[in-house]
Amino acid sequence: MSERIANAALRQKVMSADDAAALIHDGDQIGFGGFTGSGYPKVLPGALAKRIQESHDRGEKFTVNVFTGASTAPELDGTLASVDGIGWRMPYQSDPQMRSKINDGTSFYTDIHLSQSGMMVRQGFFGKVDFAVIEATRITADGDVVLTSSVGNNAVYCDTAEKVIIEVNSWQSDDLEGMHDIYGGFALPPNRVPIPITHPGDRIGDKFLHIPQDKVAAIIETDGPDRNTPFKPIDDDSRKIAGFLLDFYDHEVKRGRIPKNLLPLQSGVGNIPNAVLDGLLHSDLEHLTSYTEVIQDGMIDLIDAGKLDVASATAFSLSPDYAHKMNENAAFYRDHIILRPQEISNHPEVIRRLGVIGANGMIEADIYGNVNSTHVMGSRMMNGIGGSGDFTRNAYISAFVSPSTAKGGAISAIVPMVSHVDHTEHDGMVIITEQGIADLRGLAPRQRAPKIIENCAHPDYRPMLLDYYERALHDCKFKHTPHLLGEAYSWHTRFLETGTMKKD
Ligand code: COA
Repeated sequence: MSERIANAALRQKVMSADDAAALIHDGDQIGFGGFTGSGYPKVLPGALAKRIQESHDRGEKFTVNVFTGASTAPELDGTLASVDGIGWRMPYQSDPQMRSKINDGTSFYTDIHLSQSGMMVRQGFFGKVDFAVIEATRITADGDVVLTSSVGNNAVYCDTAEKVIIEVNSWQSDDLEGMHDIYGGFALPPNRVPIPITHPGDRIGDKFLHIPQDKVAAIIETDGPDRNTPFKPIDDDSRKIAGFLLDFYDHEVKRGRIPKNLLPLQSGVGNIPNAVLDGLLHSDLEHLTSYTEVIQDGMIDLIDAGKLDVASATAFSLSPDYAHKMNENAAFYRDHIILRPQEISNHPEVIRRLGVIGANGMIEADIYGNVNSTHVMGSRMMNGIGGSGDFTRNAYISAFVSPSTAKGGAISAIVPMVSHVDHTEHDGMVIITEQGIADLRGLAPRQRAPKIIENCAHPDYRPMLLDYYERALHDCKFKHTPHLLGEAYSWHTRFLETGTMKKD
C-alpha cells in the first residue's frame, strides 16, 4: 500500500474503485474535485459509470447530479455522460460527450459563475450533497489532506457532503505540499467577514484540507496523469490580438492609469491568452503578478524568466511537458504559485480590491458591446460562463478577445445583436480581434457601434454591419441603441439555413 497514506485509521479505508462506487446510489448529488482538466478523481467516475450502465441494462433508472470545480476530463465528465449517467450538472464543462448530452436534452446543465457555485452550495441552494470525491497527493499522519493540481470547490464539497471519497494519486508530486492555501473563514450572512487579501501573494489559510475522519467513506489509490492538452503553436491572429492588448496596457501605463509592472493579470485559458503571456515574456516588463483562475504554460515561462513574482490561481492547465516540469520542480514553483479555493481565486471583492486586469475569450460581440461567451447561434451550449463574469464585472480593466471570424470566415464574431448575452454592454471595456481594438470606456452606444465595426469586424462583414447600423439609426424610432430587431437576429438564422452569415 502506498506510503502516501500515513494515517493508520484512514489506511483501513482503502478499497477498490468498484467497492467505493457501490456506495453511490441513484439520485445522489456528488461534488467532484477537478478544475480545467486537473486534480479530478481519475478512477471512481469510471467505476460509477460501469455501475450505472449495469443498472440501465437491467432497466433500472440511475443518474447522479454532478457538481465540480469547472471542466474535468474524459475520465469524469466523458465516462459518466457516455452512459447517460448525469441528470444535472453544474457549474462548468468543456467535455465533448458532456456537451452533446446537454445539447441533445439528456442532461440538465446550470451554468454558474465559478465564484458563486461553491457559495450557493454552502447556502443550501441545491440541496444536500451526498458525496464529495476529491483527489489528494498525500494524507498526513494526522489525517490532513494535501491536494493536487487544483483546489476548485474541494473544500466546499468536503465541508458540506455527508461522505467523502478520496483518491490518493501517486502521479501527482509530493512537493505540491505548501502550494495550496485553503481558506476556512467562510460564514453565511449576516456573519460574513472581509477576505483579508490585499496582495496576490497573501496567504490567508492552511496548506492542508481538513476532513473529519468519520466522514471519509473510502480511499482509493491511483497513479494517473491529469488531462494535459498541448497548446497549438501560436498563430498569426493570436499574436496580433496579443500585440494589441499589450500595446493597450503600455498606453495605459504611459497615461499613468496603471503602474509600470501592470496590475495583477487574469487571463482565460487558450491560445490567445498563451500568446499574451508569450508577448509578456518577450517584453521588458518585470515584477509582474497574476491573480487569475488557471496557471498555464506561459506563466511557468514567466516565473522561470524571473518576470512573474507570484501567481495566484485555483488550478493548473498545463501541456504534458509543462505538467512534467511542474511535477519535477514543484518545490521551486510553490514559492511563486498559490492555489486557492475558487471561492477566493474568483472572489469579486478581491478582484475589485487588487485591480485585476483581465482578458477573456468570447464567441461573439455585438456592435454595442454585449458579449456572448457560451451559446453558439444562441442555443447550442459550448462550455459555460466559467470565471469570465467574475473577472469581467469586477476587473480594473476587462477585455474580450477573439478572432473576428469563425468557421473559415462563414461566421462573423461581430454581429448586430448577440444571440445570447453573458456580459452586458455595462461589463466589458475593451474588445480586441486580429483587426484591431475598440476601447469602449466612456462611450455611449452610438459612439461604440462605428468603432467596433471599423476596428474589430472583419473587412468582409464591415459593409454589411455598417449598412445595418445606418438603417437602424434611420428607421428605429429610438436613437439610444438603434436596432432593427427582426433583421438583427436574421444573421444567425441565415447561417443556420445557408451555412454562412454572408448574403449572396
Ligand atoms: N460562432 C460559432 N462558433 C464559434 C464562434 C462563433 N461566433 N466563435 C468561436 N466558435 C467556435 C470555434 O469555431 C471553435 O469551434 P471548434 O471547437 O469546432 O473548432 C470553438 O468555438 C472555440 O473557438 P476558438 O476560436 O478556438 O476559441 P477559444 O478556444 O478561445 O474559445 C470560448 C472561445 C468563448 C468558447 C472560450 O473562451 C470560453 O469557453 N469562454 C467562456 C469561459 C471563460 O471565459 N473562461 C475563462 C474565465 S477565467
